[in-house]
Amino acid sequence: RMTTLVAAPALVLALGGVAFAEKTYINGIDANYPPFAYVDKSGKPAGFDVDSMDWIAKKMGFKVTHQPMDWDGIIPNLLAKKIDMVCSGMSITEERREKVNFSNPYWNVKQVFIAKKGSTLNADQILKGKVKLGVQRGTSEAEALQKDKEAKGYGYDLRFYDSAPLAIEDVLNGRIEAATMDNLPADDAAAKGKAIQVVGVYGDPEDFGVATRKEDAELLKMINDGYKLLMADPYWEQLKQKHLAK
Ligand code: ARG
Repeated sequence: RMTTLVAAPALVLALGGVAFAEKTYINGIDANYPPFAYVDKSGKPAGFDVDSMDWIAKKMGFKVTHQPMDWDGIIPNLLAKKIDMVCSGMSITEERREKVNFSNPYWNVKQVFIAKKGSTLNADQILKGKVKLGVQRGTSEAEALQKDKEAKGYGYDLRFYDSAPLAIEDVLNGRIEAATMDNLPADDAAAKGKAIQVVGVYGDPEDFGVATRKEDAELLKMINDGYKLLMADPYWEQLKQKHLAK
């Protein structure tokens, strides 16, 4: 009797270590959003958000895999349980909060207008002129630009893209004159030699957070606790240097 009582927990512990203690969560990513999430040359998910969540998972004792998918359908996929979280450059917005929970903010971005290098366009001309303006579908900036166009009578002609890099390509080949996106992917593209420049700022700054299903309070707590540890760890500075330093 005594032995079974003692042995059982030890066995559970031993098995748990390899088999069932570590739950696997799937992080849905937009793999066309460097430097936050992308697919590297070997086809592996990479980026600031991917590295951050890998570190947090390890620290907090869960497993995470990163599943590339269309940005536009990422919240429906979260609600349908195809994925368990979105740690992929997602702005915390009131609209999204109605459907999902967000972690504490981990990054702050501003939204910018970009145009071809050497362009003389400015934010005022983009808003009030008849500029062809690209934006990624399903983003907070797409939503805000549509709202502002109606509410403020802005003149731009919105063109929708599946990713920020596709909008950048069309700015470069002249199909559109400008695009709106978060500052970091724009800076990242410019740093990689794309002949674009930031010509203005749009709207208010936004915070990035990790989205989870509302009922997944346990996961959300692990993510929040994990970020707290990460931000206090030297690895946080290294991550910023690796992915976000310009
Ligand atoms: N601020 C935008 C949003 O949250 C950026 C989205 C783009 N991020 C991404 N991973 N595609 O809607």
